[in-house]
Amino acid sequence: MTTVVCPGSFDPITLGHLDVVRRATTMFDDVVVGVAKNPGKSGLLDLETRAGLVRAALASAAEAEPHLARVRVAVVPGLLVDFCREIGAVAVVKGLRGGGDFDAEQPMALMNRHLSGVETIFLPGDQRYAHVASSLVKDIVRHGGPVDDLVPAGVTEALRAALGQPAAGS
Ligand code: PNS
Repeated sequence: MTTVVCPGSFDPITLGHLDVVRRATTMFDDVVVGVAKNPGKSGLLDLETRAGLVRAALASAAEAEPHLARVRVAVVPGLLVDFCREIGAVAVVKGLRGGGDFDAEQPMALMNRHLSGVETIFLPGDQRYAHVASSLVKDIVRHGGPVDDLVPAGVTEALRAALGQPAAGS
């Protein structure tokens, strides 16, 4: 069995993230989503809430694609390479929306390999989601805009709650 990790901030998970995880499952039989802190980003949702939203998104997607129920979700408490070692992951799988993502990801990929030998596999993001970023999603919700077609069910409500906004329809 080949284990890989799809790591990210997932603050919050978007349909673009979900697409990358889904595609990782077409190549690897054991996929673990690792929800981690990125020190370069100020977080809105706490790590457990982020992980819960990823689990809910996968459970919902598994209704149409049952194999997605096998994907595990865990919080990465420290270094990603330590997490990979603990669970026996041989590689990290990351989606790239474009050159900006590559510029950000390449140093991390090289550092992770330097630290532990773990390789990173980049998947080109689907063009349908090339404009979708967690930071933009949060900004849109902050200003009362619509994001339901960019994120899995339940995410909008979680963001509204974290921002102290009333629930939709109340
Ligand atoms: O979704 P993101 O913000 O691009 O994901 C980046 C993330 C969270 C995967 C990265 O910051 C990370 O691996 N954090 C865990 C701590 C760590 O290993 N830092 C050293 C990275 S070389």
